[in-house]
Amino acid sequence: MGKMKKEAEMILIKRSDLQRRVRELAEEINRDYKGKDLVLVGVLRGAVFFLTDLARNINLPLTIDFIAISRYKPGEKGVVRLVKDLEESIEGKDVLLVEDIVDTGLTLAYLYRNLQARNPASLEVCTLLNRPARRIAKISLKYVGFDIPDVFVIGYGLDYEEKFRNLSCIAIPKEKAYLE
Ligand code: IMP
Ligand code: MG
Repeated sequence: MGKMKKEAEMILIKRSDLQRRVRELAEEINRDYKGKDLVLVGVLRGAVFFLTDLARNINLPLTIDFIAISRYKPGEKGVVRLVKDLEESIEGKDVLLVEDIVDTGLTLAYLYRNLQARNPASLEVCTLLNRPARRIAKISLKYVGFDIPDVFVIGYGLDYEEKFRNLSCIAIPKEKAYLE
């Protein structure tokens, strides 16, 4: 971790705050989904760390599935495609989409539309981070861990060029602002 820490020293949310907030979200979900047929749908790959910690703190019967879409490139906004679909049907289920961060909202808007067409009993979003400054698509977020300012972040599942996902805190890379 020594080298990684050097490149990502500015901690935005420390590990203990992440853990506390994840427990709080899980408690809300425990209350809201009691007696329901809960499916957690994680958006690969960023949401994996958050989803597993969240699921461990939920004490309801649930199932877990994953979905992945291609990243759109800047300049071709909204152009995304499913690269990995769910394994199971979500028809009649209470689906909670679990995401690492909502930025423009385009990823979730696409996924929401795609999953809604499969007739779940309910469909809501749980995101660890919300960065409203650059929102393009309007989407309703039922559970939000933290609102963050307009800075690029890494750690706890979030990557920069596929690295840093295994940092246990949310950090701001030191060298430059990666958000353009
Ligand atoms: P959106 O479609 O613009 O809302 O972007 C959401 C997706 O972009 C997330 O699922 C992340 O994978 C990625 N992303 C957005 N901001 C960051 C960041 O600050 N760090 C790492 N990944 C990010
Ligand atoms: Mg993602």
